[in-house]
Order: sequence, then structure tokens, then C-alpha cells
Amino acid sequence: MDKRGFTGVFDSGVGGISVLKSLVRELPCEDFVFFGDSANAPYGEKDTEQVIELSRAIVDDFVSKGAKAIVIACNTATSAAAPTLREEYPQVPIVGVEPALKPATLAPKSDRILVMATPVTLRLEKFHRLAQKWGVGSEVIPAPCPGLAARIEQGRLDDPDLVELIESLVGRYRGEVDSVVLGCTHYPFVKSQIREVLGDVPFFDGAEGTSRQLRHLLEHGGLLNDSDRAGTLTFRSSKKAEGELDFYQWLFQQEI
Ligand code: SIN
Repeated sequence: MDKRGFTGVFDSGVGGISVLKSLVRELPCEDFVFFGDSANAPYGEKDTEQVIELSRAIVDDFVSKGAKAIVIACNTATSAAAPTLREEYPQVPIVGVEPALKPATLAPKSDRILVMATPVTLRLEKFHRLAQKWGVGSEVIPAPCPGLAARIEQGRLDDPDLVELIESLVGRYRGEVDSVVLGCTHYPFVKSQIREVLGDVPFFDGAEGTSRQLRHLLEHGGLLNDSDRAGTLTFRSSKKAEGELDFYQWLFQQEI
């Protein structure tokens, strides 16, 4: 494997761009290719086999193009497909993303932790394992958010219907929780809208943990790019609509 190769990063759509921002911060000399499967988003309401198939096709494409590592920047795809993909592609390190329950439970106020995620992420074993491991002294409250990732895919993040949707999904927890885990990589882009509904609660997401894990794997595999030039960033999407990649670029520029 060539240390000058690129890392392929993918998501069901635009959400993984929130992880990509953290990856570029952590590893500024690495080359990244981001693929958003927006034509097939959301994954979080599909069955597990479908998510595995869609993820496999993307990983296969990255591997055939010579990726030195892969980041699954999607909680749903990580939960549904990461173990299978690691078995099928042992030649390339594959890093996933997970609901950030560990930092949330270690925070000073952690009696009641709301976990917002897709129905699939909250149904699969990975979430239950994490909740058992880290949720011992806290009440972990799963909040499935059907429709939210799909709505974020549509853009127009300032439109009032987005806050109304969030209100209908989690409004009943206003004043009831100490923190919120954003267990879907789309949600960091609507933090301010979630705050409008839930108030000024601390948020936790898995992006930094994933970035540190990628650094660790590249270092240990002798794959870290040792040149000191700035890395490159390429965006690709399965959705061929006009303006789609501009939307990706715009999200990448947002402060989150
Ligand atoms: C989705 O495609 O439903 C959301 C992706 C995620 O879980 O991060």
C-alpha cells in the first residue's frame, strides 16, 4: 500500500462531511476523496442487507482505485456493514464512526443522555453494546429520528419546517436531559436548530474519535503521508443533480 495514496470517506449522503472536516483538521497532509451516496439516502430507514450492499459497492470502488484506507462516515453504515466489510477487504484499514456515548458519560453532567440517531443505528447491536458499556451511571435515552437525515439532504437548513420536524421528534425532552449525543453524521449541521428545540445542552459526536483512530491506523500501518504539502480534497456524489457538489462544498465550509 502506498503512503501517498488517498483515504476514501463515504456516507449515505452529505452527513459524512461533518466527519471529513474533523479528518482534515487532524490529518492536513492527507489526500481525501469523499463520496456521498445522496441518490440512495437515507440509509437509516433501509434494511441491513441493503445498507451492506450499498456500502460494499462504494468500498469496492475505492479499493479498485487504490485507496490506502477507508472511513465509513455514517453511523448507520458503520453499525450495519463495518464488520462484514472488514472481513471482505482485509487489505485496507476501515474506520467507522459511533455514537459518542463514552465522552458523554464522562462529562460532569451526565445523568440523562439523549441519543439522536436513525432507527437502524438505534436498533442494531453496536448501540446496545455501547449503551451497556458506558451507560452504567447514566440514563441513556434513545431518540430515533426518522426523516431528519433525509430532510437535511434537501438543504434549505434555515427553513422553519426543519425546526418543526426536530420539535416533533425530540421536543418532549426539552429541559429533561443533560446532554445530547448526535448519533448520525448529518445532525451536526443542524446543531443550532436542535438547540432551538432542546435549549443550550452540550453536544457530543463521533467525528474526533474517528479522526484519531484513522491517524492511529495510518501511523501503525506505516501509511501516514510524510510529505508536508497540504493534502487534497475531492468530492463525489451518486446524485447527479445540478448544484449537488456545490452543496457539499458549502457544507464543508460551515462552522459546526
Ligand atoms: C442516514 O443515511 O439515514 C443517516 C446516516 C447516519 O446514520 O449517519
